[in-house]
Amino acid sequence: MAVRTPSKRIVDDIAQVVYTSEEIRGVIARLGAEISRDYAGLDPVLVGVLNGVVILMADLLRQITIPVTVDFMAISSYGDSAGKGTVRITKDLDHSITGRHVLFVEDVIDTGLTLDYLLRTLRTRQPASLKVCVLFDRPYRRLIDVPLDYRGLELPDRFVVGYGLDADGYYRNLPFVGTLHPKLMPHPVTERG
Ligand code: PRP
Repeated sequence: MAVRTPSKRIVDDIAQVVYTSEEIRGVIARLGAEISRDYAGLDPVLVGVLNGVVILMADLLRQITIPVTVDFMAISSYGDSAGKGTVRITKDLDHSITGRHVLFVEDVIDTGLTLDYLLRTLRTRQPASLKVCVLFDRPYRRLIDVPLDYRGLELPDRFVVGYGLDADGYYRNLPFVGTLHPKLMPHPVTERG
């Protein structure tokens, strides 16, 4: 396992807070209000990719005041040096999106390769519309241009965990985003954050 064992209290493993839970909550309230305004009367479906998005999805849904449904997919990525060269869908959506107004929700976008692949896949199903909402963005890591219709916060170019972002599966449940103490940093090969 690449990451060291987390402390009994995971907050003890954080060196520096990057975004507080209050800052994140405020941004999600803004995104929820914009989505509620823009999708009024359109009966949208929010689509997310497991696992990191579950924290955001739960909070975003509760900031949306119009009727909305949610669906999830799961993928495995493999291929190039960034680990994102090829994407395989391991769990597809439960419901058809044909003719639906789809809002694709992502916790973080780095290279954009995952999003690009998934958007191309979802477009073949002929949704009425397909837009993207991302909470955390690292635009300086982009390898391919992807459209972002709703954007939350820009992450610094450091390995961070919390609010859905993990180190070998841990720390997603931190209510804020922060850096890990250096002694806990994962092996560079697995560095995603
Ligand atoms: C994150 C995120 C996207 C992908 C974005 O998932 O949820 O799916 O990385 O990266 P990209 O822009 O470089 O393609 P991750 O692989 O960390 O899995 P997780 O959601 O289970 O944490």
